[in-house]
Amino acid sequence: MPMSPRRRILVTSALPYANGQIHLGHLVEYIQTDIFVRFQKLRGHHAIYLCADDTHGTAIMIRARAENRTEQDLIASMRQSHLNDFQGFQIDFDHYSSTDSPTNRRLCSELWTALRTAELITSREVRQLYDPVAGVFLADRFVRGTCPKCSASDQYGDTCEQCGATYTPTDLLNPKSTLSGATPVERSAEHLFLKLESLHAFLENWTQSSGVIPREVARYLLGNFLCDPLRDWDLSRPAPYFGFEIPDAPGHYWYVWFDAPIGYIAATSEWCDTHAESLDSWWRDATAEIHHFIGKDIIYFHTLFWPAMLHAAGLSLPTKVRIHGFLTVNGQKMSKSRGTFIMARSYLDHLDPGMLRYFYASKLSGGIDDIDLNLDEFVAKVNSDLVGKVVNLASRTARWLEQTGLSEKYPDDGGLFSQAAADGASIAEAYEQCDCARAMRIIMLAADRANAYVDSMEPWKLAKGGASHASRLRDVASVAINLYRQLIVYLSPVLPSLADQTSVLVGGLIQSWDDSQHPMEGVAVGTFQPLMRRVEEQDVEAMVAQTKQIQELDMNDPILAEKSDQSIDSGESLAAEPLAAECSIDDFSKVDLRVARIVSAEEVPEAKKLLKLTVSLGGDATRTVFAGIKGFHAPESLIGRLVIVVANLAPRQMRFGMSEGMVVAASGAGGPGVYLLSPDTGATPGMRLR
Ligand code: MSP
Ligand code: ZN
Repeated sequence: MPMSPRRRILVTSALPYANGQIHLGHLVEYIQTDIFVRFQKLRGHHAIYLCADDTHGTAIMIRARAENRTEQDLIASMRQSHLNDFQGFQIDFDHYSSTDSPTNRRLCSELWTALRTAELITSREVRQLYDPVAGVFLADRFVRGTCPKCSASDQYGDTCEQCGATYTPTDLLNPKSTLSGATPVERSAEHLFLKLESLHAFLENWTQSSGVIPREVARYLLGNFLCDPLRDWDLSRPAPYFGFEIPDAPGHYWYVWFDAPIGYIAATSEWCDTHAESLDSWWRDATAEIHHFIGKDIIYFHTLFWPAMLHAAGLSLPTKVRIHGFLTVNGQKMSKSRGTFIMARSYLDHLDPGMLRYFYASKLSGGIDDIDLNLDEFVAKVNSDLVGKVVNLASRTARWLEQTGLSEKYPDDGGLFSQAAADGASIAEAYEQCDCARAMRIIMLAADRANAYVDSMEPWKLAKGGASHASRLRDVASVAINLYRQLIVYLSPVLPSLADQTSVLVGGLIQSWDDSQHPMEGVAVGTFQPLMRRVEEQDVEAMVAQTKQIQELDMNDPILAEKSDQSIDSGESLAAEPLAAECSIDDFSKVDLRVARIVSAEEVPEAKKLLKLTVSLGGDATRTVFAGIKGFHAPESLIGRLVIVVANLAPRQMRFGMSEGMVVAASGAGGPGVYLLSPDTGATPGMRLR
């Protein structure tokens, strides 16, 4: 089969804000993009996947202030947390940068100069709401007040959720700053604008005729923006603002949406530096493709402002802007109180990342419709398709080949392998269109045919038939394993770790799409290891329960999480409380204090203060307790030691697992230490304190 020439494909996902953790909504995008890039690489193309943290803006500045740390410190810890989550979901960036990088600053200057030279920048005074207490100008979403149109109260500064009216924050009645609660005052400051209307003809032509953006989106832009003169775009913010200061306008900073997309170029530049490639070969070369994956909430930044900037600077325009919808969970907007605002980390604590990758793939059709994660459907689909159809094919046949390997010559399979090989063209076409749902359907049909083959051949009967059936058995199992591996080649962009596990079982690394086109013969087959276990409802329920709990404690936030670890689990709350309410003997007897022996102790790497202890209260049963004593006790030194635990404390779901009790310790007044309490010699685990 002739392969198309090797394309050069630069792929980006929108840069996640550094002021929040990655959640399952974000992952719709990062998983979709990762699948696309892995697919292109498997096809032999030169694809690179670039992304970065989006670090600038008022929100970060405010949050850093609230947490009494520098912005740099905040964005560094967020970056680490984002990278951990992405790695957990097997999102494989070729480079992950930050918009706060020196490269980005330099490129922002270059683009800015280009816009100045093209006389596209203008300036004028802007009256804006200013928070006199916090000392900052207020972005629209930091102001709430009464809608000037329908009088609904508590509306954002830019749109009314009740009547849909859009307005400027200065139109709001009774405005209040969400930062300080103060009544904002109007202040004026100079702002610098991009004269977008000068590029109207270009933008209309580019959005309407080039096929770069979906037709429905092109129509939306025409109907909502391009039908009128385009308004100037405000590109600057007066101090104080966390961002890059504009070199030729001291005291003014580039608005975060100016430097964020330039982050795509900066990430490319940094990648080029370590791969001996030139930036121009990607951003000034018509033969290189540029694909931006984004959600539908940031359409006009990527289809109007960004192309305007690129065009003015003489840089390449995106080949495709690929736009997806929003994630709903159980048919509704993700919700904190329902426990469906699920963080990447909570998912990873309970479930296999491959399963979410597959589920999203089965839902993503390349359109801008929202996609729904129905949790019951998730369990049913993953079990039926991945475990029941795909993995099952190998799990029920591989063991018969452990001794012999695959048949020396690929047996007659009634045309199954070649039929699925021919499917390869439409599967590839579907991946290329980002219609993963269609690709998954075609693959599952092939899996159904393969399973029907195994069912009809009844190899388990052949296995009982002794030596006379051995060669037939080997042939049937060889067909099954070849069909299995063929499916895995097609699925490998979606399920990279299943592909890796399969490569150990049979046939080595999957390196090319072409591996799906030829059956393997006479190849060794390893020992079958369970490749994926069924997902149980309880796992999903535990994740939702944890999510609810996390929202209550606000522990989804790593910074706050550290604080909660401290106060809840170090025993500090008991010991350091100077004044406790009087407690009756009845109150006290409710607390079941027991002697316990520590049987194992290990550090919780993600937590500053926590050790994970396993304690025995006598008998065989043990319990897990998270104790806030890390740094004061070496884990090894604790093993075997007797301590006192609160044995009837209600179990608590923590970020790192369930805590089933509390170890009593003293701390406070005399210094920073945390001192464990122990009984006199002779006490044994299980004894009750009275
Ligand atoms: N920082 C900007 C993007 C700058 S790109 C130059 C931003 N960040 S974000 O963190 O809010 O979102 C990152 C991406 O995730 C966006 O494409 C956004 O559409 C997507 N999603 C965020 N929440 C989402 C859902 N609930 N569902 C699907 N996608 C979502 O926007
Ligand atoms: Zn209204």
